Amino acid sequence: MCGIVGAIAGRDVVPLLVDGLKRLEYRGYDSSGIAVVNGGVRRVRRTGRVAEMEAAALAEGVHADMGIGHTRWATHGGVTESNAHPHISGGIALVHNGIIENHEQQRERLQALGYAFESQTDTEVIAHLIDHHLKSGGGLLRALQAAVSELRGAYALAVVSRDEPNRMVVARMGCPLLVGLGEGENFVASDVSAIVQSTRRVIFLEEGDTAELTRDGVQVFGVERQPVEREVHVSDVSLASLELGPYSHFMQKEIHEQPRAIADTIEAVMDEAGFVPELFGADAAEVLADVSSVQILACGTSYYAGLTARYWIEGIAGLPCSVEIASEYRYRDAVADPRQLIVTISQSGETLDTMEALKYAKSLGQERTLSICNVPESAIPRASRLVHYTRAGAEIGVASTKAFTTQLVALFSLTCTLARLRGRLDEATEARHLDALRRLPGDIQHALNLEPQVRAWADRFASKHHALFLGRGVHYPIALEGALKLKEISYIHAEAYPAGELKHGPLALVDAAMPVVVIAPNDSLLEKVKSNIQEVRARGGEMYVFADADAGFGPSEGVHVIRTPRHVGVLSPIVHVIPVQMLAYHAALARGTDVDKPRNLAKSVTVE
Ligand code: F6R
Repeated sequence: MCGIVGAIAGRDVVPLLVDGLKRLEYRGYDSSGIAVVNGGVRRVRRTGRVAEMEAAALAEGVHADMGIGHTRWATHGGVTESNAHPHISGGIALVHNGIIENHEQQRERLQALGYAFESQTDTEVIAHLIDHHLKSGGGLLRALQAAVSELRGAYALAVVSRDEPNRMVVARMGCPLLVGLGEGENFVASDVSAIVQSTRRVIFLEEGDTAELTRDGVQVFGVERQPVEREVHVSDVSLASLELGPYSHFMQKEIHEQPRAIADTIEAVMDEAGFVPELFGADAAEVLADVSSVQILACGTSYYAGLTARYWIEGIAGLPCSVEIASEYRYRDAVADPRQLIVTISQSGETLDTMEALKYAKSLGQERTLSICNVPESAIPRASRLVHYTRAGAEIGVASTKAFTTQLVALFSLTCTLARLRGRLDEATEARHLDALRRLPGDIQHALNLEPQVRAWADRFASKHHALFLGRGVHYPIALEGALKLKEISYIHAEAYPAGELKHGPLALVDAAMPVVVIAPNDSLLEKVKSNIQEVRARGGEMYVFADADAGFGPSEGVHVIRTPRHVGVLSPIVHVIPVQMLAYHAALARGTDVDKPRNLAKSVTVE
């Protein structure tokens, strides 16, 4: 969702701000803006793409050696230029990510003090509040600290002032914000990708931190406003992962990066030569030792990774496992069990619903928390006791692909680790599972090689309005993921069902116009799936079946078959999701939708 970038340097920062905002575009936004200090405050804002705002800044000849920029995804107030950030009050300009809960009370109070509002945003309240506190004469940092102490809600803020042209001040609570350390220049950003071209040395601000940046230094202050030292990290985000290279879309690139992403994610397991608790953090042996059950919390695609893992955790580790959509869990009266392991899954590590579900679980006394996440130092892993980072690399396409398959790999490793701790994994089985993991990148590559056949199917899907996806057992979540991918990027309405459930209602939808995609691996449920296919065929439904090469499944009238590689056993869902990702990608391409930035969606969902 919204993104922040800021720079204070001995050079023109406008190109840095624009470049940073472009790198934040993937998060989803509908307007953007910059404000710089050069004598006074100059601001440029536009709805639409960053490129339009950039063109306006160029035309207006905006240059300065300090400034802030923002991409906005509308929450409070529509998509208009006056609602776009930065917001200005007196001599200050400010950008904000997050939501201020008490903005209405503050708005009334500030109006009574004589402030006039130009936007419908909660953010403008903060700008006026800082200006109000500036009048007490303590300077910009003090004014920011006084203002945030009166706010309720979530914020990452960067503020510049006409009257203090040599400093920028920032604050963080509930939304990610990091400071980038350069040579004679410093930066602020909500996401390291925005500044990685200038520096990789970053400080992740902690909850309640404020900081002051000058060209020559950065001072961070803790909750009590005392100066604090924060660790400097060196980001390993690669520039290549932020660029398209030879691909047409990030989604296409990320689908094809999966063999590498999986190889990187299993590296730690291979280094340890087995499924050891240390894969999940230093005190994992103690935390995982006698867990009574597993509760997985996540949203969207990450939730489907959790649903898949339930089959493994119950089947292999013998532990009861529930999987719940985070936004549901957080609002119900859950029964606490201190021995239960809470597992949150999140690509971004920022998803507000997942974060709040985690906080809720902790408030119930659930201390055993593990985060599976793709973004180092993001909020959810930081709030968890144990962490396992997937190594998918930056995922830019809004539709999650390589994050999903690497999450599955991490969850499989967790399953095997729990099984081993519980004495349910003998050496021979462990060796077999390790071998299957080692072969997985190659198996994925085989599935990727099916792209020309999948593309031919996708061309037929392009004219359809609806599609059904069927799967059974551990492949049912893969059907769900296939339907989600198709609807979010091609806007074709798609639903997924466990194949056995069809006759209990959805079969009524089936006719010649409804393509039915079936995930049909060569597992113990294959014969059942074949019967379900007959049920659909008998009603004139057109079938598109992804069947393992060794499943003995051939095409027939109305039944199209793509043979996926041989059945890979327990890791089969990770292979079977590849063709459904490609189906969605090519269907979207054929329909001419914006594959990487589907309408109405954002990459990091940091609001409720
Ligand atoms: C779908 C998709 C979303 C995310 C969901 C959770 O392709 O990407 O459904 O999976 O918003 O996001 P994370 O994993 O960042 O918590």
